[in-house]
Amino acid sequence: MTGLAVDGDSPQTAAGQSSATSAAVSIRLEDVRCAYGGVQAVNGVSFEVPAGAFIGLIGPNGAGKTTLLDCVSGFNRGYSGHVYLGGQDISRWVPHRIASKSLVRTFQTPRLFRGMTVMSNLMAAPPRQIGETIRGVVLGSWRDEERTNLVHAQSVAASFSLQRVLDNYCSELSGGQERIAELARTLMADCKAILLDEPFAGVSPANRVRLAEHLVRLWQELGVTIVMVEHRLEWIEQLCSSVHVMANGRILASGTMNELRKDRQVLEAYLGAAP
Ligand SMILES: Nc1ncnc2c1ncn2[C@@H]1O[C@H](COP(=O)(O)OP(=O)(O)O)[C@@H](O)[C@H]1O
Ligand SMILES: [Mg+2]
Repeated sequence: MTGLAVDGDSPQTAAGQSSATSAAVSIRLEDVRCAYGGVQAVNGVSFEVPAGAFIGLIGPNGAGKTTLLDCVSGFNRGYSGHVYLGGQDISRWVPHRIASKSLVRTFQTPRLFRGMTVMSNLMAAPPRQIGETIRGVVLGSWRDEERTNLVHAQSVAASFSLQRVLDNYCSELSGGQERIAELARTLMADCKAILLDEPFAGVSPANRVRLAEHLVRLWQELGVTIVMVEHRLEWIEQLCSSVHVMANGRILASGTMNELRKDRQVLEAYLGAAP
């Protein structure tokens, strides 16, 4: 488990205020609760992520962070409470409907189609495949959309420096390339809010810096609202203006990393003992 001390490779990016928030949306959670059998994984979580914010969600293993992201993104719909996106109640919507409202997520383990090339993965990203309507087929407009998708995929790939691996199978990618490819695929959608589950896990130190730069660009240039679960607290500190600490399914504390480092409850939750 990661301690609260900042360690290792020092990030090259700087946190600041997002300058482009016009497209951003807020996310609000209201008393979200989710149990697996007798295990209360999420136990009454409420907080708001303001439009255009980049916030962190940290906590020990088993705290309920992934389950919470699953609830917000619709991958787990067996919860009580409410989730609002830009003021709209999206509670218990299915994932593709939530994605169509521009909230997307990445997973703790990237979910790329490993037997397909990077380009095919980008092209297979669902939300822009709007040509599969009867009208589209009859009018032949799917061809235009296919072309638009291809141009969009090439531009997304270029912005993530993936051109050299576009024809590689995803199974051939390094951990870092896989993360970046997953992020790129996620961004094939018109994304206004993104939930990241441990994006730095399995990424080499050099690629961590690149990944962080991509995240900052997403946030600052595209004005995307970001919630990041991450164990590597140096990145949380660099990237996130505010952080929620989760333990035993609840929010234990919120603040900047500096504030949280002095919080006795937080130290106990992480280290199992007060300093
Ligand atoms: N699919 C599942 N079935 C049963 N229990 C689960 C499942 N997923 C998670 N849990 C349990 O829910 C709790 C929270 O897990 P999780 O949301 O994965 O935490 P975190 O992401 O913070 O490590 C843990 O006790 C975990 O064992
Ligand atoms: Mg998790």
